[in-house]
Amino acid sequence: MTNADAQALLGNLLDPSNRADPYPVYARIREAGPLVLPDGHLVVFSSFADCDDVLRHPDSASDGMKSTLVQRRLADGQVVRPPGPPGFLFLDPPDHTRLRKLVSKAFVPKVVRALEPDITAMVGDMLDAVEARGSFDVVADLAYPLPVAVICRLLGVPLEDEPRFSHASAVLAQALDPFMTVTGGVPDNVDERMEAGAWLRDYLRGLIEQRRAEPRDDLISGLIAAEEAGDQLTEEEIVATCNLLLIAGHETTVNLIANAVLAMLRSPEQWAALAADPSRVSTVVEETMRHDPPVQLAMRIAEQDMVIGGASGGTAVPKGDTMMLLFGAAHRDPDAFSRADAFDPDRDVIRHLGFGKGPHFCLGAPLARLEASVALTAVTARFPNARIDGEPVYKPNLTLRGMATLPVTV
Ligand code: HEM
Repeated sequence: MTNADAQALLGNLLDPSNRADPYPVYARIREAGPLVLPDGHLVVFSSFADCDDVLRHPDSASDGMKSTLVQRRLADGQVVRPPGPPGFLFLDPPDHTRLRKLVSKAFVPKVVRALEPDITAMVGDMLDAVEARGSFDVVADLAYPLPVAVICRLLGVPLEDEPRFSHASAVLAQALDPFMTVTGGVPDNVDERMEAGAWLRDYLRGLIEQRRAEPRDDLISGLIAAEEAGDQLTEEEIVATCNLLLIAGHETTVNLIANAVLAMLRSPEQWAALAADPSRVSTVVEETMRHDPPVQLAMRIAEQDMVIGGASGGTAVPKGDTMMLLFGAAHRDPDAFSRADAFDPDRDVIRHLGFGKGPHFCLGAPLARLEASVALTAVTARFPNARIDGEPVYKPNLTLRGMATLPVTV
């Protein structure tokens, strides 16, 4: 496949008209094998085995500054270096290890389990409102407000401020799309992104100042305490960490809950089965993570010359090249799953890369699983006869793909 053909295929993926069902495009990309675009310093992996291999590989880096293309653009003045450090999702050891360790304390199973009664109460209130109305938008009335309320509470961000930062969070989520990597161009709304980033950082700095003066029992105060105890955390690292958690809390679990509702309502026997038997919920959640993953891709940079997928002959990746891992394609790989396109929580083994793998494995996974489990168990039990009431509408995002609305009658 030529560079131009590969770029055209990837262009289809970016095209918002394929957002509702990107899976046929993923299938074509997967069938073409790893896409190697030497001009773009890009290799695209779409089989389960290759994506898995890249995530585990010791030479896979997450710091975008190590990319040949980014370095070239910085030198040409086409892009500017972001102000301050990025969230630790985009860092490598030793910074990644240090910051992750500090934050992981907030997400240990005990802390997450302690949130269950609150989450159950919040879901109950949301569903009471739905019952009174007889219909609802799954996104606006359940899937979005739940994780947002939970992450705000964990971090210590006042929920009243939510309307102010939800816009910034949505704009920044879009910035995760691989537009530059695929097209070589700069997106139209790059100024809007810079502004949203600057606004959110300022907002968080204000909040950090307040917590410094009056600490509370929340993660922001915890990070400040770590900084003050000399745990090598700078003010800008606190800002970047809160930024990462706030966006992760806003833009991911919402899609897991909504995608699971959609999959079950499209196979009503699955909806009825969960309504009748809440113990099915964890397989429903894991199968949704595989079948329609909320995070559709991840990127890595080759820290050294690498060979990926040795068993199948291997794909050479030169040092500094970007590796794009298409989870949406890998999760439907027929070499890894039988009836890969079917939504089947009863399949023998459910594996997925939807929370990543290796050193960057999602810190919020136990929280996301808990929120989704509580929400899905409650909504099916409460409304066993729910049905879809119109086509879902998707947001333009590719990486953090998800619905903007999903109308349902109860
Ligand atoms: C269904 C919901 C979620 C999904 C599908 C998801 C998915 C992911 C994925 C795929 C990664 C790894 C990315 C990579 O390796 O490049 C990741 C990392 C991360 N996630 Fe999540 N996530 C979810 C919810 C959350 C929540 C609720 C939080 C916390 C509020 C969170 C916090 C993080 C953090 C901090 C990282 C970075 C870990 C590191 O770099 O060491 N996630 N997530």
